[in-house]
Amino acid sequence: MNVDVLLGLQWGDEGKGKIVDVLTPEYDIIARFQGGPNAGHTLEFKGKKYVLRSVPSGIFQGGKINIIGNGVVLDPALFKAEVEALEASGHDLTKRLFISRKAHLILPTHRSLDLASESMKGNGKIGTTGKGIGPAYTDKVGRNGLRVGDIETCFETKYKEAVNRHKFLLQQMNFKYDSDSLEKEWFEGVECIKRFQLIDSDHFINKALRAGKKVLAEGAQGTILDIDFGSYPFVTSSNTVCAGACTGLGVPPSKIGKVYGVFKAYCTRVGSGPFPTELFDETGLKIRELGYEYGSVTGRPRRCGWIDLVAIRYAIMIDGVTDLIMVKSDVLDTFDTIKVCVAYNINGVETEDFPFEINDSVKPVYVELPGWKTDMTKIQSENELPKEFNAYLSFLEKNLGVNVTIVSIGPDREQTVVRYKG
Ligand code: GDP
Ligand code: IMO
Ligand code: MG
Repeated sequence: MNVDVLLGLQWGDEGKGKIVDVLTPEYDIIARFQGGPNAGHTLEFKGKKYVLRSVPSGIFQGGKINIIGNGVVLDPALFKAEVEALEASGHDLTKRLFISRKAHLILPTHRSLDLASESMKGNGKIGTTGKGIGPAYTDKVGRNGLRVGDIETCFETKYKEAVNRHKFLLQQMNFKYDSDSLEKEWFEGVECIKRFQLIDSDHFINKALRAGKKVLAEGAQGTILDIDFGSYPFVTSSNTVCAGACTGLGVPPSKIGKVYGVFKAYCTRVGSGPFPTELFDETGLKIRELGYEYGSVTGRPRRCGWIDLVAIRYAIMIDGVTDLIMVKSDVLDTFDTIKVCVAYNINGVETEDFPFEINDSVKPVYVELPGWKTDMTKIQSENELPKEFNAYLSFLEKNLGVNVTIVSIGPDREQTVVRYKG
């Protein structure tokens, strides 16, 4: 069997969590392959709403196995809070959630280093989630990281060595922050991790594939936040692209099957960095209010704008997307017309290629399409979709060269329309 991959094609928050939950019944195993508690994946069903940060979004449907893969960075304190919140709402994860021994740990001092780095950048700050993601991956690549598997051996020594190194760095940066007060909670989180089965997830997943099991790899963030291909340096610190599923789970590229690319019917971004189609007017505010575009981790208002097909086409190319999934279609239900960015004009020259750098000279080239002016939130099947909406989808499919197989018309699990089966 193959591993199917589901990932975001924009700047994150595309609605990946909801779609993973919808697709879970088709799979045996759901595995997160990168990122950490910078992610906030929201799911809604039966009148309840859940926000997941490190736990994969396959945890709610049908007792499937969920894995936190080796490419993830895990904060024990935040993980414990997440597990306890899920348990309090009646979801016991212990027999269904496995954690890779090779996943790296985020220490309290990583959070301090994240804040210190941001404060040193001043106006040029990235606008990180402040969860220590960058410093934890820096330690991983610098071969200084602490892994989940270390919990089983000489952990205290390794922890102290890392903290001393971090404190030295913080001193050099002249940054004062009390991470000691977070230590108690952190070690309680480590105890919580020990309640779960720690596995060699690479062997586990490959054995499952050989046994005919179906695996869905769940991405966090989005392709334009990828460390290599995103709008660097305003990116996250991991490979959010499809190749990240190979390194983040230990599956060979030849085993990748479908690649689901999730995108919003418009575009949002949290934090700093370029955003060519960003709207600073009433329309941008309308999208924010109708789409309730506020960060699920930090509560920050998300920046809103029109859909950017240059960026999505680039993401499709890098990720090898086989199926597109459009989310938050309903948010545009009341618009008279909808703009679609089909190219960039850079200093008078039009291009359809995502450039090395996006700066102020990059101007979006728009095509304007008629809105559908229909409440789609209660639609049950494909043939009820309004004709202008279908025309919008056809325009996107023609421009992007990939079919939109699922459309989401509301936050609930049930508000999902499948267009092509098979
Ligand atoms: P993720 O990080 O990619 O999982 O996305 P987030 O959960 O951060 O953000 C997506 C938000 O949109 C969440 O609040 C979802 O509940 C919500 N959502 C998902 N799909 C739809 C949809 O089709 N319509 C509307 N209105 N909201 C949606
Ligand atoms: P999900 O999985 C949206 C953004 C941050 C910041 C940049 C770097 O919910 O889609 P980091 O803390 O990773 O060092 O921050 O990346 N960012 C996200 N934006 N959705 C996310 O995750 C994000 N995770 C990180 O806002 O601009
Ligand atoms: Mg999110």
